[in-house]
Amino acid sequence: VSLKSRNTFGISAYAQYFTVADSVDVLREGMAWALKQDANVLIVGGGSNMLFTNDVQGLVIQNGLKGIEKIAEDEDFIYLKVGAGVVWHQLVLYCLEHNYAGIENLALIPGLVGASPMQNIGAYGVEIKEVFHELTTVHRKTLEEITFSNAACEFGYRESVFKHKFKNQFVITDVTYKLRKEPQYHIEYGAIKQELEKANVNELSIQAIANAVIAIRTSKLPDPKQIGNAGSFFKNPSVSKEKFQNLKEAFPEIVAYENPDHTMKLAAGWLIEQCGLKGYRKGDAGVHAKQALVLVNYGDARGSDILEVCKLVQDAVLQRFSVELLPEVNIL
Ligand code: FAD
Ligand code: EPU
Repeated sequence: VSLKSRNTFGISAYAQYFTVADSVDVLREGMAWALKQDANVLIVGGGSNMLFTNDVQGLVIQNGLKGIEKIAEDEDFIYLKVGAGVVWHQLVLYCLEHNYAGIENLALIPGLVGASPMQNIGAYGVEIKEVFHELTTVHRKTLEEITFSNAACEFGYRESVFKHKFKNQFVITDVTYKLRKEPQYHIEYGAIKQELEKANVNELSIQAIANAVIAIRTSKLPDPKQIGNAGSFFKNPSVSKEKFQNLKEAFPEIVAYENPDHTMKLAAGWLIEQCGLKGYRKGDAGVHAKQALVLVNYGDARGSDILEVCKLVQDAVLQRFSVELLPEVNIL
């Protein structure tokens, strides 16, 4: 089965076996079958954070677990239990419609709910760990159901326990979010304030913030339907205060944000742009012309072509700034 239309990079790759799981029972059956064959299982959501460099041996399971259910409510919060196969932006729209606050800054992030905890998705000053309550999984070997609390997920910047300690051990089947009845607005990040002014917003609302975020995102991030990509290809690297001071002396314009632990997070897009690589293209693989942190496939690039550009960017940034860029995208 071709996976080309199932990954936003638009890379051609084939799955040895493929199935869609629209219930937890079907998911378990698929996993049990794969266990018996001793076959590898790969879960695919929206395919918006993966780069295929090979065909996939084993069983690809397309996540189709739907449903949004309000399971509890207290004075301040609404608890929504959401199937891992719900489209993330559909959930954002649902919350806007019901006036549940907390994920408006995360509007328009591609992909499905089940992947949102994998890398603790974040944008415009908010990460899902701030609205995350718990999630349910099926263990890949025992097929047991296991629940993870917020603390158990060990969320960090683009990190969770599911990318490290428990990599390839669990399949996420639903996620419960804790949304606020009274919004707490986050408008400090980037161009949100300017965007709100541009739209003549006098009174803040979660809808106004979502609109601003959508406007900013569509102005600089490539639409995967037009140009293949998986969003930021690299993570923004953090360096010590001392290293940052040295860099700042040599490059006074350098863009950085202070982390809570006082290290400095550098804007990798700026580093890449300074290396003259914004808009770089070799064959069908390249660096996006409007956002240098995004690698793109103009048509028929292979995973290995994208990896070549990845390496070129990493080498250039290392040489010029002595800073190592690590991929954010899952390379398969
Ligand atoms: P997939 O790519 O399908 O999967 C990602 C990984 O998670 C894979 O390893 C997969 O096997 C695993 N996985 C998926 N579902 C499950 C499951 N249910 N159980 C176990 N493992 C699973 N990300 C941000 O954080 N912030 C952004 O602002 C942002 N902007 C983006 C903009 C663009 C244009 C694009 C293309 C991507 C962007 N991303 C961003 C990255 C991406 O949208 C997120 O990482 C998203 O959560 C991926 O969801 P997905 O369903 O497509 O995951
Ligand atoms: N910049 C440049 N040149 C570029 C790109 C960026 O100079 O080509 C500078 C800009 O000056 C800007 C700064 O870098 O001030 C930050 O840029 P931007 O606001 O576009 O955000 P980013 O750091 O490049 C991160 C996330 C995005 C997320 C945005 C908004 C990572 C790896 N990426 O990008 O997430 O949408 O912030 O919060 O943290 C993703 O994960 O796929 C993703 C798109």
